[in-house]
Amino acid sequence: MISIEKADTPLHGTIKVPGDKSISHRAVMFSSLSTGDTHITGFLNGADCLSTIDCFRRLGVNIEVDDEACEVTVHGKGLHGLKSENTVPLYTGNSGTTTRIISGILAPQQFTTILSGDDSVNQRPMKRIIEPLSKMGADIKSKNDNGCAPLIIKGSKLQGITWKSAVASAQVKSAVICAGLYADSDTTVIEPALSRDHTERMLSSLGAHITTTKEADGYHVTVSPADVLISVGDIAVPGDISSAAFFMVAALIVPGSEVLLENVGVNPTRSGIIDVLKDMGGNIELTNNRTVAGEPVADIVVKYSSLHGTTIYGDMIPALIDELPVIAVAAAFADGTTTIKDAAELRVKESDRIDAVVEGLASMGADIEALEDGMIIHGVAPDSINASANKCGCGNVVNGGAINNYALHGARISCHKDHRIAMSFAVCALAADGTTILDDETCVNISYPGFFKDLVKIHSITK
Ligand code: S3P
Repeated sequence: MISIEKADTPLHGTIKVPGDKSISHRAVMFSSLSTGDTHITGFLNGADCLSTIDCFRRLGVNIEVDDEACEVTVHGKGLHGLKSENTVPLYTGNSGTTTRIISGILAPQQFTTILSGDDSVNQRPMKRIIEPLSKMGADIKSKNDNGCAPLIIKGSKLQGITWKSAVASAQVKSAVICAGLYADSDTTVIEPALSRDHTERMLSSLGAHITTTKEADGYHVTVSPADVLISVGDIAVPGDISSAAFFMVAALIVPGSEVLLENVGVNPTRSGIIDVLKDMGGNIELTNNRTVAGEPVADIVVKYSSLHGTTIYGDMIPALIDELPVIAVAAAFADGTTTIKDAAELRVKESDRIDAVVEGLASMGADIEALEDGMIIHGVAPDSINASANKCGCGNVVNGGAINNYALHGARISCHKDHRIAMSFAVCALAADGTTILDDETCVNISYPGFFKDLVKIHSITK
């Protein structure tokens, strides 16, 4: 449990957010499958990525970790060098990314593996990978026959397929691409919108042949069978834009703030939050643009801004799916209505993030309603509160005849053991009157173990 007070002075300072979670997972997985040693810097020491390391160690890969330095050395085993230890399940913890992508790696091996995660992972949909992998010839079954993990994967020979994915999911795409490296012919995944492309970038740098084309029916990502992946020697993981997102929104909603976020990955398949927050009126500047390990990286300056509502839908969703909870927080402090739709995927993340966000923001006094595939938030900007309060001395904003309760207030928030829900409400607490209590601060360790330390670095608001 943690209590957070409203920040009544601006947030100021510089933050170097930890390494990108998606890229850290892939760096360990693909280095394990490559020939040669790989030295990974900027690695995210979060629980999810440590689950990936644990799984690959159990598959016989020698991996050294320097926690303090966030450095990892992987002694690659090559595409055909993994081995099964025994029948004890590989434990993937809270990590859907580990569970899904590793399934595509295990399906073509010459041994049987059982994969299992925590209660949350074991309730998340796995049919989306079971179906394409089975079509490739994999023997992969849901142990309880409910379309979820635990998964029993008996290694099999695979064939190339074309698979049209119903969802734009990088985890599904990556599982099928990994299996495709071992197939007898090319494999194509067609996705309705382009999901994050870190797998394509990193595997290409290791020598795999992967192409992406935009066609009338979606994005076609094609991988050819590979004989070998060759280590690039060093991989520098950029900072995670999904972690930077919390400080972007914090700086935008706490009056007078200015925060510099250093070394943030700004891959266009991930940077939708920057476009949306700018579109809402956010003062956000990218400087020092560069490319690191095949990924675009920048420093980001964010200044407090008067925000207004927007609509977020369709192809925009995959590039900001993990940021939608904290974007909803920004929307609660933006003038007018924000509508988020086409985001039903939020319901099958670490928690049902539509219900978790709506429940939490409503309990803090926001005017918000849940949709099956998103939410509608009627926000009120802090500026209009002050203007109105100054004018009439009352505590309400008059909006075209309707009176909105102007200020969000602290509340007891259930984080649903979901790291992104906990951090979103920690940010919301900074601009809400009084004290907010989060029921669980430890879940931030999944993706951002130093989150509260960094928050205190720019403002002492936690108790
Ligand atoms: C991820 C893909 C996304 C994202 C998750 C990480 C990845 O999930 O939400 O946090 O690293 O591939 P989906 O593939 O389910 O969209």
